Amino acid sequence: MGATLKIVQLGDPVLRRVARAITPDELPVLSPLVELMRETMRDAPGVGLAAPQVGESVQLVVIEDPPHLHGGLSAEELAERERAAVPFHVLVNPTLTILGDEVIEAFEGCLSFAGMTMVVPRARRVRVDALDESGQPVSAEASGWYARILQHEVDHLRGVVCCDRMRPRTLMSTEAFGRRWRGKSVSDIRSALGDTDA
Ligand code: CO
Repeated sequence: MGATLKIVQLGDPVLRRVARAITPDELPVLSPLVELMRETMRDAPGVGLAAPQVGESVQLVVIEDPPHLHGGLSAEELAERERAAVPFHVLVNPTLTILGDEVIEAFEGCLSFAGMTMVVPRARRVRVDALDESGQPVSAEASGWYARILQHEVDHLRGVVCCDRMRPRTLMSTEAFGRRWRGKSVSDIRSALGDTDA
C-alpha cells in the first residue's frame, strides 16, 4: 500500500465548493495526485473518490469497483443493484447527462460522511464525458451501480453531497443498517421508517 491522504469530512467547506476545471498544462503533472487518490480510495476502501474529498478543489475523480468489494453481497443482490466490477479509471473535468427517466433508490454512503448510510434516489442510466489522465476524451454510458457512482462523484465536484439528495428518514449508521436491515428491500425499510412519498 502506498501513501494515502486524509479524507475530509462533512463540515469542511471544500466539500461545498464548486471545483475548478483542470487546465491542459496541469495534465502532465496530475499523476502524483491520481496515485495518492487511488491508494486513499483502496485503503478506505471505497469505490470512488473526488479530489475535493482530499482537499483539492479540482475536477478530478478516481473510480474502481473491484470484485473483492462485492464479497458481502449475494449474486441476487449484485443483480438487483446492477453492480458489476469496474476497473480503475480516472475522470478529468467530467460532465454527466441523465439518460431516460428511470430512478432507482438504494442505500449509499460516502467516505466524507463516515459511518452513515442513506437511501438516495439516482438516475438508472447516465452518460459521462470527460478526459482521462492523459487528456484523451473518453465517454461512456453506464447503468445501475456504476451510474450511481458516477452521479455521486460528479456531485462532489459541484459541491453536492449525497445527504443533499437523500430520503432524510432513511439516514442511519452503517452499524444499524448491518444489524437491522441487511437483506431487506428499500421499500420495506422506507415504510418501516415512515418514509412515504406523500
Ligand atoms: Co462521496
